[in-house]
Parts: sequence; C-alpha cells; structure tokens
Amino acid sequence: MFGPRHAAMSHAARGGGVSSCFAFGMTPFAPLPAPAAASNVPDQRTMPPVATKPEPSTYPSLESVLVSEAQIKKRLKKLGAEIMALYGNEEITVVAVINGAILFTADLLRNIDNPIRLDCIRISSYRNDTKSAGKPQVLGNLSLDLANRHVLLIDDILDTGKTLSLIVSMIQKLSPASVRTCVLLDKRGRREVEFEADFVGFQIPDKFVVGYGLDFAERYRNLPCIGVLKPHLQNPPEWA
Ligand code: IMP
Ligand code: MG
Repeated sequence: MFGPRHAAMSHAARGGGVSSCFAFGMTPFAPLPAPAAASNVPDQRTMPPVATKPEPSTYPSLESVLVSEAQIKKRLKKLGAEIMALYGNEEITVVAVINGAILFTADLLRNIDNPIRLDCIRISSYRNDTKSAGKPQVLGNLSLDLANRHVLLIDDILDTGKTLSLIVSMIQKLSPASVRTCVLLDKRGRREVEFEADFVGFQIPDKFVVGYGLDFAERYRNLPCIGVLKPHLQNPPEWA
C-alpha cells in the first residue's frame, strides 16, 4: 500500500468524479478501487529522493548539478515499477505536457509495460524569465478521447501547481475513468494552489533548474542532467 503522500490523494482524486487507485491487480477497464485509509507508517518505496546536495558541474552553463543522468535513470526504473504496480494490467492514456515533459515521458514510458495511448498538451506558463508569467495558457489541445480512460498526466516539474491544477480540471470535464499525475521534479515549498502529484521523481529545493526537458527561454532542454543555470546566463544581453 502507498504511504501518506499518496494517501493524501492528488488534486484530481480529491476533485471527485474520478477514482483513485491504491491497490494492485485491477481487471481491464474496471473502475480503479477507492483509496485505502491513510496509514501512519511511511512507506519508503513511495518517498521520492530529495535532491539537496548539488554537485559541481562539468557543464559550462550550469552552476551545479542537482540530479545526475545516472540518478534520473535509476529513479525512472523505480517510478515505472510504482506506476505498473498501481495500474496492474490497465491500459493507461498518458497526457504529456509539452515541451518540458518530452524527455521525461519518453524515458519513463520505456520503463512501463502496460498498454499505453499517448497524447500531448501544450501549455505555456513561463516566458523568457525564471518567474511565473501568471496564468498558464493552453496553446495546443488534446486529440485523443479521454472518456472512460485511465489518464496519467505527466509534467516536468510541479512548482506553483497552477499548470497541473488547470489541466486536471480540464481533463475531469472529459469524463475519464481516473486521473493521476506524475512529475519528475517537485518544488514543494513554492505551491500557490493546493496540489500534490501521485508520482514524484525528486523533491528539489526552490531553485530555477534546467536540463532533461526543462528550459530557460527554450534553451538547455537537451542537457542529460538537471542543474542550476549560472546567473549570468539568465537573460543575457545577446538574446535581447
Ligand atoms: P507551475 O504551474 O508553477 O506549477 O509551473 C509548472 C511549469 O513551470 C512547468 O511545467 C515548467 O514548464 C515551468 N517551471 C517551473 N519551475 C521551473 C524551473 O525551475 N525550470 C524550468 N521550468 C520551470
Ligand atoms: Mg515548461
């Protein structure tokens, strides 16, 4: 069974209309069972590692590396196993928030054996800046039918919570069988709306990070690790 983080339920699960699943071995297309009562005993399997000790970077643009390529690879295997355990044999309809979740989704899905349908939603919540631009905007919408499907929404990072809570409420209107959320990174201290993801890769401190899909002004997505950008590279004059 899952520990308190999962037992607390995602925003999606709390919203009603969608089921949340905390048990294994479901039959195909059956509604997922209701959550078990919260346990007081933390289950270490579900506690995401906390990236607290930055390592010096060998990448010229990075001040430090928060999560290395090897750590990502290792964690994705476990995350894939957690997701498979939760969904049993169910088909999963994955909705990836692009562009940020592209690399994470591509690698995570290779660690999941369930039947998968994949769709993407394009959202813009940050502009050429390290601060939130305010309200997230939907720039490109879904093409797959989500009615009666088990939807797993995947994003790169959970920050203020505005983006995922907006997308979850949009998806809930499409009558899915269930909605769950998975993020590679969680900056828990930055939340402005109440939101917890069902699956989290790493908890990170309140630092603006780039790499492995995460960008600053559309750059650095191709770095294989996640790190903190050198301050002088934020809004450099040559980009003006
Ligand atoms: P939220 O709506 O504030 O939770 O923001 C989520 C979105 O903001 C993510 O999908 C990212 O695109 C972006 N974001 C938040 N923090 C960072 C960061 O540290 N680096 C890069 N993008 C970030
Ligand atoms: Mg983004």
